[in-house]
Amino acid sequence: MAEEGSKWVVMVTGRSPTNIAVIKYWGKRDEGLILPINDSISLTLDPLHLSATTTVAVSPSFSRDRMWLNGKEIPLSGERYQKCLREIRKRANEVSDEKQGIKIKKEDWERLHVHISSYNNFPTAAGLASSAAGFACLVFTLAKLMNVKEDLGEISSIARQGSGSACRSLYGGFVKWAMGNNADGSDSLAIQLADETHWTDLVIIIAVVSSKQKETSSTSGMRETVQTSALINHRAETVVPARVLKMEEAIQNRDFASFAKLACTDSNQFHAVCLDTSPPIFYMNDTSHRIINLVEKWNHSEGTPQVAYTFDAGPNAVLISPNRKTAALLLQRLLFQFPPNQDTDLSSFVVGDKSILQDAGVTSMKDIETLEPPTECKDKVPYQRFTGDVSYFICTRVGSGPKVLTDETLALLDPITGLPK
Ligand code: DP6
Repeated sequence: MAEEGSKWVVMVTGRSPTNIAVIKYWGKRDEGLILPINDSISLTLDPLHLSATTTVAVSPSFSRDRMWLNGKEIPLSGERYQKCLREIRKRANEVSDEKQGIKIKKEDWERLHVHISSYNNFPTAAGLASSAAGFACLVFTLAKLMNVKEDLGEISSIARQGSGSACRSLYGGFVKWAMGNNADGSDSLAIQLADETHWTDLVIIIAVVSSKQKETSSTSGMRETVQTSALINHRAETVVPARVLKMEEAIQNRDFASFAKLACTDSNQFHAVCLDTSPPIFYMNDTSHRIINLVEKWNHSEGTPQVAYTFDAGPNAVLISPNRKTAALLLQRLLFQFPPNQDTDLSSFVVGDKSILQDAGVTSMKDIETLEPPTECKDKVPYQRFTGDVSYFICTRVGSGPKVLTDETLALLDPITGLPK
């Protein structure tokens, strides 16, 4: 290794996606190791629209480990960060940076410090799971920097110790988190069921629902559920094991009808066990319930599922349609029922893959005003419109797993100082 006083900095930048569970993880059997009480299954979302980017740097001039999140320094003292750092450091190997003529020996990693800078390409305030992308990216990028040779499965079991759902973000496409049996958690890891090329027709629309309420964190919410709910055991021991098998089959066969039924039922059961918690936990609000009604009514009137919905620990709806045509029809319905406040511009109200807007025939705010009520409610009580109840929509798709970004201009740390740019 070059001398202590020398100024070299070696760094790596990575990008990791977020994921949305269609069979939910809710409840731990071991809080310290983050071991779940049931398997879960998720879709990885396109990192172009929802991801974390992280740069990790090492230098003999760093005096301690430091981290910046979205530009602000945050403490790294938390047990979850410490575990991820420790587990990756344990597996570090020799690294040589030929360009700079530096060799970092395996044993050097124990005393070298790192700087970490991470940012999310979606607003943290939106209440979208940012810890999954964040911990997946931290662990993935540190593993690259330290030349860790273990496979992605083992890397995912380290990310799991940062935040349970993070382990599923180590792969693209369709992913299962196998709960495992071992007391040390070594077999509680992510497994890719199918990659992002398997079922490319799916279109995902996320309704970011305005919420003033402070939500219960997933960590404390699931702890309270495990301690107080009588339903959670039935869910974990009987319902989920059977549902996971059916969901794997639905994904394998690209069977949207089964996929949608399982996803909606599982989301509803997750919220039911939250309600069965004492005191009860309410993650969904009136807008969430209205979105469920909209989808259920439409699905019922067509006789077969057009759209699947799923809600995590918050009011935002994640809606999955089988193809662009149905996604356009869905977007029309959503924009009809949840138009934006005045003075909002369309380009900030529908973000991500905006091409769905064209398919929906909506190219201006005027088009939203003149949308017709959906046919399934024509002869019913006139449909109410809830202006401003959805903050914005994100159109996206199933995407790929973590990647190293080789374009040095994307690095979040300065290559000379190792401090945020
Ligand atoms: C509702 O992974 O955020 O999103 O493991 O305590 O960090 P910790 O919890 P977290 O919980 C996610 C819960 C969920 C369902 C899911 O993603 O499976």
